[in-house]
Amino acid sequence: MPITESAVLEALKVVMDPDLHRDIVTLGFVKNVQINGGAVSFTIDLTTPACPVKEELKQQSLDAVYAIEGVSHVEIEMTATVRNRNAQNEDLIPEVRNVIAVASGKGGVGKSTVTVNLAVALAEAGARVGILDADVYGPSVPLMLGAQDEKPYTEGQKIIPIFRYGVHTMSLGYLLEDDQAVLWRGPMVASTVRQLLADVSWGELDYLLVDLPPGTGDAPMSLAQLVPLTGVLIVSTPHNVAANIAGKAVQLFKRLNSPILGVVENMGSHVDEATGATTQMFFGLTGEELSQQLKVPYLGSIPFDPAVSRAGDEGVPSVVASPNTAQAKAFREIAGRLAQQASIKALTRQDLVQVDGEGFTKV
Ligand SMILES: Nc1ncnc2c1ncn2[C@@H]1O[C@H](COP(=O)(O)OP(=O)(O)OP(=O)(O)O)[C@@H](O)[C@H]1O
Ligand SMILES: [Mg+2]
Repeated sequence: MPITESAVLEALKVVMDPDLHRDIVTLGFVKNVQINGGAVSFTIDLTTPACPVKEELKQQSLDAVYAIEGVSHVEIEMTATVRNRNAQNEDLIPEVRNVIAVASGKGGVGKSTVTVNLAVALAEAGARVGILDADVYGPSVPLMLGAQDEKPYTEGQKIIPIFRYGVHTMSLGYLLEDDQAVLWRGPMVASTVRQLLADVSWGELDYLLVDLPPGTGDAPMSLAQLVPLTGVLIVSTPHNVAANIAGKAVQLFKRLNSPILGVVENMGSHVDEATGATTQMFFGLTGEELSQQLKVPYLGSIPFDPAVSRAGDEGVPSVVASPNTAQAKAFREIAGRLAQQASIKALTRQDLVQVDGEGFTKV
């Protein structure tokens, strides 16, 4: 019996996406099925190049199709098309598929460090990534990327982002002179965030990560009102105070109708690189406990490492400066999980996946 496309699709229905809880055929990932005698080829178009289970899905798909009688050769091309956030008419940045805000309640918990390293990790995985530094009070992204002396130029009416480590970045830090102090009033924050979105030539991006100032002030409010966000990543340290205020940030974003993509714990533990042993550094509410309390996904923990600080201060993100450490690995894993959460949000809107109140997906 000749092999048919429907037989191939039927066989591939056993391959489940573990995060989306649906099979890859129903999710519309399987494309371009070609059959030539016993040779079968097709494309699996995932929702993000940073997919943590790419290799497993490929292997399971190979196994499933080889099991069809008469199949002698299978070739799979793995691609990714990042799905779009819910962009409205007159969106300020229509070509940006996902806008992800990085927020915290308390200051100094590592938002900027996390933003920069996740952005670089996503870019390394093959995504088109930008960072908008919306910390107008104390922009730190230029320093963390060693780009503090850069001055962006304009083309037409738009400012061209500064490109570093594979990431397009824009910050007030590039635009102000070193000694220029700004006395902020609420409406100015809103108009500055608007300019950083609308007056910058962001172009086509899969992910725009927005580094926010700490707390629940004007910048997060303005951002959430100016563009539909894919969602918000909450960074917290395992101190009860930090966790407590993180809860307030979550409430604010929920009120603004921005979904929470998850919680990342930072600086909760230390990993001995020689032995791999992990030591807890604080004994407050952990990121995992916090995410359970807030009923949002837990995306992982980034260990404390003095090398992270040093690399940041020297303007090299730690995923680049020391890619083989436990921290760098954590950043890459969390980048994958964040991308997955963004995909879940997009597919939920298309009614392909249902998410219950706990933030978990069900069939
Ligand atoms: N995992 C880590 N290990 C070691 N040092 C870290 C880690 N994460 C962040 N730091 C350091 O902690 C300090 C604060 O980090 P960062 O500036 O990223 O925090 P933030 O939340 O953006 O602060 P702010 O609220 O002021 O914007 C920095 O010196 C940074 O290098
Ligand atoms: Mg910061």
